[in-house]
Formats: sequence, structure tokens, C-alpha cells
Amino acid sequence: MIEKNISLCTVEWKNNKVVMIDQTKLPNELVFVEYDNYDQVANAIKTLIVRGAPAIGVSGAFGLALAVLQSNASAKDELILDLETAQRILFATRPTAINLGWGLEKIMTAAKTGNSVEEIKDIVISTAKKMADEDIEINKTMGKNGSSLFDDNDTIMTHCNAGALATVGYGTALGVIRATRESGKNVKVIATETRPIQQGSRLTAFELKHDGFDVSLVPDTAVGYSMANGLVNKVVVGADRIVKTGHVFNKIGTYQVATMAKQHGIPFYVAAPLSTIDLETKADDVIIEMRKGTEVTGIGEKKTAPDGIGVINPAFDMTPPELVSGIITEKGVAKFPYEESIPKLFEANN
Ligand code: MRU
Repeated sequence: MIEKNISLCTVEWKNNKVVMIDQTKLPNELVFVEYDNYDQVANAIKTLIVRGAPAIGVSGAFGLALAVLQSNASAKDELILDLETAQRILFATRPTAINLGWGLEKIMTAAKTGNSVEEIKDIVISTAKKMADEDIEINKTMGKNGSSLFDDNDTIMTHCNAGALATVGYGTALGVIRATRESGKNVKVIATETRPIQQGSRLTAFELKHDGFDVSLVPDTAVGYSMANGLVNKVVVGADRIVKTGHVFNKIGTYQVATMAKQHGIPFYVAAPLSTIDLETKADDVIIEMRKGTEVTGIGEKKTAPDGIGVINPAFDMTPPELVSGIITEKGVAKFPYEESIPKLFEANN
């Protein structure tokens, strides 16, 4: 059993190393891993040691911070070339969450303002650390913005993990739930199991229990039952990418939860920072990551399906804008039609 007073810092920069929780071991063991090269960070992102859109954005940035320390470059241009190699390797790990590309690009832009090798090294490390600090602040502001949408005694359903473990801390969807509780309202949470990797049971239920919330777990197949029987008042989920039309890309199964919510007249909210909004890519062009079949044909080490069958294992799906009651961000809550409300969030950013 993991002690209550242990703080869950998903990813941090410590003594020129990246330290992260190995999320593949939760909820049974709390293991911290320490990396001193960017290939290890790339592998951690690929193998889901760290996961969740904002967390992989900051991990990518810390990967580049390791890359500047690893580099033997003696001239500015050489160091930028080394950074570009690391950027390519880190970027190739997971395709759907935009935060990864956003975090890498932000560091590269900052790096190019440096005039010497030493200055670039300082800029890259300090920018990555600042991104990690800002992630928590942004989540807290987003939480406050979203909390007014929730009422005392609501039971809120969430899908996958969009909590402290999917960010640097506090969380996006779970951040809204935290802020609602901090505003004095009493809330309960229903977490979906989220097959095949079970982020809902392994991470969300663990995190909420750890932080003293009243949380119940349901199998993904019980979403309709829970809504039809009045067990849920509202839904809030995170996002891996939101395009400017308001199409939301999030963990596989989100679309089903949103469709069921619409059917039962239950508000369905998405909480995500502006760094998750992609104003460039069209919904049809977003790449949905396909993961290995063994995630579906077994649970953990145990095989639960026969050999020799086909498996379709998309990691994400797309929820259309008409199913989304509001997109909660650090700059306010956008409402349908999103093509009008999303750009306004960015204007408020300037
Ligand atoms: O495959 P994962 O575990 O990285 O997927 C994570 C999710 O889909 C989260 O719900 C999403 O990143 C929102 S994050 C705050």
C-alpha cells in the first residue's frame, strides 16, 4: 500500500537528471526512475512509463535539457544540430497528443535565441523547468475556471487519467474536480476502468483515493447503465488534442462516454490547456496512435484471448463538437460553436 503522505510528482528535474514516476508499476508500487540521457526519456514516453498529454510535453522538454548536457558541441550551430536530432527522436515516440510537439518546439525556439553554447544550455534547462512550473499553475487556473460548472453533491464521471499523473501536478479534468472540492462543494467521482491499459483503475482511482476523494470504479461497459440509472450528473475528461472546430481527441472510449451523456442529457465537459489546442491541423488529419494487440489479448501478464486472431487497438478516438458542452481552459470556458469561441481564448492570451 502506498503511503498517503507521499507526494505524487509525475516528472521533475533534479540534479541535472529527469526523475519520473514509473506509471506502469502503479497502483501496486510507487517507483521513481531517473534518467540522464534523452534516449531513456524517449523510451519512457513510448512505453508509457510517463503518459498523459501535458506530462509527455514536459518530459519531451526535459529530454532536450538532457540533450544539451550530453552534447560535446563546441559551437552554437553544432549544438542546435544535436538538439534537432534529439527532437526528432523524442517526437517520434507518440503521435496523437499535440503537447509533445508543442513542448519540443517551445524549447527549440528558445534555444535558437542563445548566442553561445553555454547560453543555449542555460536557456534550454531554465525554459524546461519553467514549463514544468507553469503546467501546475495553468492547471490550477483551469480548475478554478471549471469549478463553477459543477454543483454541490454532483457525481462526476471521468474517463482515462487526466490527473496529476497525466500532468506535472494537479491535473486537467481531475484538477477541475479538485478545484470544485476546494471551493467547498462536496463531489463524488465515478472513474471508468479504461481498457485496455486501465488508466482509470490503475491511475485515476489510485490518485483520487490517495487524495481522499470518494471514488467508485465502473467497467467501461457500465457507462450506459450508470447514466441511465441516475448515478452520474456530469462528465469531465481531458484531451490529447483539440482542433479549432472543437473536435476532441482523447483516450479511446471517450466518444462512447460523450454519446451516452448526450443521450441522457448529462453535460459533457473537456478540460485542457491551450497547449493542447491545435489551430493548424484538420480533424481528419490527426494521427490516431495504434498500439500493440497484446494490450487487448491479455490483462497484464494473463492471456485472455485465443492466439491467431486479429486485433484493432486504437489508443484514441475523436469526439465531435456537438457532443461537447464546454471546453475548460486556463483562459476561460469555450462553448459551441467552437470555431468562434476557441480563437477568442487565444486572443485573451495576448
Ligand atoms: O495513452 P495515454 O495514457 O497517454 O492517454 C492519456 C489520455 O488520453 C488522457 O486522458 C489525456 O492525455 C488527457 S491528459 C491530462
